[in-house]
Amino acid sequence: MANKKGSSNNIDAKSFTFRELATATNSFRQEFLIGEGGFGRVFKGKIEKTGQVVAVKQLDRNGLQGNREFLVEIFMLSNLHHPNLVNLIGYCLDGDQRLLVYEYMPLGSLEDHLLVEPCVALRQQPLDWHSRIRIALGAAKGLKYLHEKANPPVIYRDFKSSNILLDRDFDVKLSDFGLAKLGSVGDTQNASSRVMGTYGYCAPEYQKTGQLTVKSDVYSFGVVLLELITGRRVIDTTRPCHEQNLVTWAQPIFREPTRFPELADPLLRGEFPEKSLNQAVAVAAMCLQEEPIVRPLISDVVTTLSFMSTQPGSTPGITGAVLTNFNLRPVQLHEM
Ligand SMILES: Nc1ncnc2c1ncn2[C@@H]1O[C@H](COP(=O)(O)OP(=O)(O)OP(=O)(O)O)[C@@H](O)[C@H]1O
Ligand SMILES: [Mg+2]
Repeated sequence: MANKKGSSNNIDAKSFTFRELATATNSFRQEFLIGEGGFGRVFKGKIEKTGQVVAVKQLDRNGLQGNREFLVEIFMLSNLHHPNLVNLIGYCLDGDQRLLVYEYMPLGSLEDHLLVEPCVALRQQPLDWHSRIRIALGAAKGLKYLHEKANPPVIYRDFKSSNILLDRDFDVKLSDFGLAKLGSVGDTQNASSRVMGTYGYCAPEYQKTGQLTVKSDVYSFGVVLLELITGRRVIDTTRPCHEQNLVTWAQPIFREPTRFPELADPLLRGEFPEKSLNQAVAVAAMCLQEEPIVRPLISDVVTTLSFMSTQPGSTPGITGAVLTNFNLRPVQLHEM
């Protein structure tokens, strides 16, 4: 893979012994546990030799699949370097142990901040509107690098709020490349593949036929943007039936701009520029279109979000401005 480096965070992944990582995490003590996902547990640690604070992901030893993803993760992160992608510091392949060592992201994942239980939400300061737009922009920049700068392009395939990690000041770094695929240029060709990823975030064409393009990632971006706007999980079985799927619930509202404020997260308490909200909803609606070909390129999304993040609340002709940016006709939204 050709490597467009040029960023200062370009560190070669190092091989650690199991003993070094056990020492770093105090023998994987419960108090050091910071998260748990489908592939294993994540611990906070400190590398004894260097004093570097890290996140250590210990993969469950559950056979081939995990092993493949482990190797893809090391391969991808050793070759891809961008300020909006997490740094892989090293790995451990001792015996049947499989561990990955990442830079530690002090604010955890977007999911930890946005989609927490109501009791936790009461204790935690909700993300303000400006931070939400900054997070969306950082995540879009990470995707833009994968789609348009990496050579060959990379389809991320697992874009979701738990894989968007947050540094101080809500700087974003994408993580988890185990599912990523080396893709094809543009959106005319595609890689056909077994459907993987996370239910709810997957594009409809990918879900149905395994057709995978950069536009599948754009759809998943639209889902996360909608989560940022609404503060709702993409799938939430605790809600009434017609509200359980966030995209299905939002789609009728997308067709009526006067109803856009209904989508805003109640925790924002109305504290957002209405124009900016309308723009964000228009971007999400375009990314979530059924037909991959009419979804915008992620670079168009970056352009629009950059504009929004520098002009809070002062953008005239909102939806029209967004549509002009994307050079698209008004959105025809299809039922999913
Ligand atoms: N580098 C990191 N720094 C700080 N916290 C992290 C880091 N990596 C992961 N975490 C925390 O660990 C949690 C679990 O991450 P993990 O990637 O294992 O699973 P997931 O993304 O939640 O789910 P899935 O396995 O489906 O991808 C994250 O939500 C985050 O809170
Ligand atoms: Mg993850």
